[in-house]
Amino acid sequence: MSNFAFLKEKSEYALFANDCIEAEEILKKSADSSIKLARPALDAAIKWLYLHDKKLFQNKTNPENLFALMEDNSFKIAVGKNLLRKIHACRKFGNAAIHNEKNFSTEDAVTCLNNLFDFVQWIDMRYGENYAPRIFDVDEIFTSSLLKTEICGIKMNTPVLTASGTFGFGEEFEDFVDLKRLGGVMVKCITPKPRAGNKGVRITETPAGMLNCIGLENPGVEIFLTEILPRIKNKFNVIVNISGGSVEEYGNLAKLLDVDGVAAIELNISCPNVKDGGIIFGTNAKAAAEVTAAAKKNTKKPVIVKLSPNVTDITEIARAVESAGADCISLINTLMGMEINIHTWKPTLGNITGGLSGGAVKPVAVRMVYQVAQVVKVPIIGMGGIRSAEDAVEFFLAGASAVAVGTANFANPNVTNEIIDGLENYLRKKNLNSIKEIVGKIK
Ligand SMILES: Cc1cc2nc3c(=O)[nH]c(=O)nc-3n(C[C@H](O)[C@H](O)[C@H](O)COP(=O)(O)O)c2cc1C
Repeated sequence: MSNFAFLKEKSEYALFANDCIEAEEILKKSADSSIKLARPALDAAIKWLYLHDKKLFQNKTNPENLFALMEDNSFKIAVGKNLLRKIHACRKFGNAAIHNEKNFSTEDAVTCLNNLFDFVQWIDMRYGENYAPRIFDVDEIFTSSLLKTEICGIKMNTPVLTASGTFGFGEEFEDFVDLKRLGGVMVKCITPKPRAGNKGVRITETPAGMLNCIGLENPGVEIFLTEILPRIKNKFNVIVNISGGSVEEYGNLAKLLDVDGVAAIELNISCPNVKDGGIIFGTNAKAAAEVTAAAKKNTKKPVIVKLSPNVTDITEIARAVESAGADCISLINTLMGMEINIHTWKPTLGNITGGLSGGAVKPVAVRMVYQVAQVVKVPIIGMGGIRSAEDAVEFFLAGASAVAVGTANFANPNVTNEIIDGLENYLRKKNLNSIKEIVGKIK
């Protein structure tokens, strides 16, 4: 229900209310057109004010001249400086939009709508009968309900997450990306002790993606808990990717991370770039199940198990971790690869081999998500080479309930938000009401 419904009930408010309701609705689709509605909405409100406030109306012969009325001293006194500044800003935005002087960003639209909300609240307080403060939440409006979802108890604004190791701890991206729109950030892998990572060249570009052998460089669980988590915990769903050298280490990490601010734990049993990076657990069904069970025993948080594509039968591992209690399965991690420098005859990467990610791995990832979806009941977070909304749709159709974007963040830090916009458009065009309607719908 619209935030302005209360105003609509009163015929006097109707003019203003209708414009505002429309602005709110349209804002969900296009920032620019909602700003166009800001000016008429404000004008209507100001006119209404003058007509209903006897003091303001005194000696005014021409209430149609709204701008002059806004400049009037009694109006200025009535609405107060701060609010007046906002009304002016809002009107200026509307003016510019109407005359097409400027292209507007979503941020401009948010500012504009917030200003309108403030003015509506003020009108309520001054003139509304049975005034009860209403909560206007622009964030709520900006997160379309089409994409809202819930995965193993974690409420997500959208089913688009960022993949571990490609998005730091999220905070590094807050100037470029609207983090609130993400379903969560799967943070860089955390190990029991700090790690410096591998030596030498650690990343090289490939024709459709990249090879990396970072080697799980991270500050260790203690620094993560004391310094990093407090900074990021209220900004998005924090999903902590962990890796240990033994079953016990996975269990201990899960226990340490069973704290406020952690939405879920993702077990990285699939890093191909270090000896103790979990891949020995991820390529053996029995070991994968043991690690999963150890983590489950030590935490109340949902446990997501991240599978390696470097196996013959992915469904065997998926079944094993589900039976051991995994709440969710994510896949795929990188595919083992290698590049040789033909001039030096040496491997390009310091670690000799590395993990292949990006566009090239997408068909492998879609195939594996599809196969796993046939044999497990737990939700799947699909990833591997997603660069666009169209790519993401393939994963949903294959059976993923959410997707994570990795390598594409390097080329375009805002790619996740663009994918979210693209998914909304896709659902609208198809007349669908929720992303859930396409999960596993491959024919
Ligand atoms: C530079 C880099 C670092 C990564 N670090 C991790 C990591 O720490 N833990 C993990 O589980 N996966 C890690 N991954 C794998 C990604 O999370 C993801 O599973 C994989 O890259 C496939 O997705 P993409 O093709 O969209 O990148 C890393 C990938 C890259 C490219």
